[in-house]
Amino acid sequence: MTPRVNQINIILHDQKHDQKRVQLDKVVIPNPFEQIEKKLTGLVGLDFIYDQMVEIYALIEINKRRQSANLKVEPQTLHMLFKGNPGTGKTTVARLLAKWFVELGVLAEQKVIEVDRADLVGEYIGQTAHKTRDLIKRAQGGVLFIDEAYSLARGGTKDFGKEAIDMLVTHMDNHQQSFVLILAGYPKQMDYFLKTNPGLRSRFPFIIEFKDYDADQLLAIAKQMVAKRDYILTKEAEFKLFHLIKKKIDLESNVNFSNGRFVRNLVEKIIRNQSIRLVKQQVYDGDILVLLTADDILT
Ligand SMILES: Nc1ncnc2c1ncn2[C@@H]1O[C@H](COP(=O)(O)OP(=O)(O)O)[C@@H](O)[C@H]1O
Ligand SMILES: [Mg+2]
Repeated sequence: MTPRVNQINIILHDQKHDQKRVQLDKVVIPNPFEQIEKKLTGLVGLDFIYDQMVEIYALIEINKRRQSANLKVEPQTLHMLFKGNPGTGKTTVARLLAKWFVELGVLAEQKVIEVDRADLVGEYIGQTAHKTRDLIKRAQGGVLFIDEAYSLARGGTKDFGKEAIDMLVTHMDNHQQSFVLILAGYPKQMDYFLKTNPGLRSRFPFIIEFKDYDADQLLAIAKQMVAKRDYILTKEAEFKLFHLIKKKIDLESNVNFSNGRFVRNLVEKIIRNQSIRLVKQQVYDGDILVLLTADDILT
């Protein structure tokens, strides 16, 4: 992607008030759409987030402009629901958005407080209120990410999970912009969760569905992980890895397969296998240290 380069004439005044025209042909005007695209480069198969990011950007930008033109501005809520199986990139995207929101001036801090039911819900009366209040406080200025959020509704109306939900909702309504709440979980469970809590749906303008990766995408993710760790897969290793991934996808039901997480564990295992092989062979040349071979991939 090439940045947009504009020809800009700038008039510089020197001390004698002579005017000199200086042409700056290398001034880069940031193009928001390119900026968003750039943020998504390196992430495999997540281009579908692009449209959502454009929508968010436009909303923020226009609100800023309306505000300075003294026009009415609807309070902007950026709370989100992430629906997707494990390892489909939900946490990765939450971190990316947190960083971006800071750049856009929406959030004060680039932090993602990642929690689950046990961090919010207590076992006796009063404990849930205390825990939830504490977390909301910790998340101020950043993102509060609740993983497997549907489990908050697990025990029905008598469960303390309901208390946590109610507190979160009250807080979301009272403090529109103090933090961004992201609720994440399996698609089916999240749909059920929304159905059983009718007031919730309207509070989350952004619902993002994360799809399972296919074998090609998972191989691309694996290659990226390998490269990041300073390794290279041989052609045979790549071939073997691809078929291993494909076999795993075919074997597992959708719910059990952990997508990117499966690949990360696999890559880490392959790297450990390579270490053992090299130590056994006692070869430690630079080139060899880098190569992951088919022998390192145990099926
Ligand atoms: N699109 C992607 N591109 C590159 N790596 C990814 C992608 N999606 C997931 N991963 C990697 O897979 C692993 C699991 O991703 P994560 O965001 O934790 O998934 P989730 O939160 O949905 O369970 C992480 O190591 C992450 O870096
Ligand atoms: Mg996660």
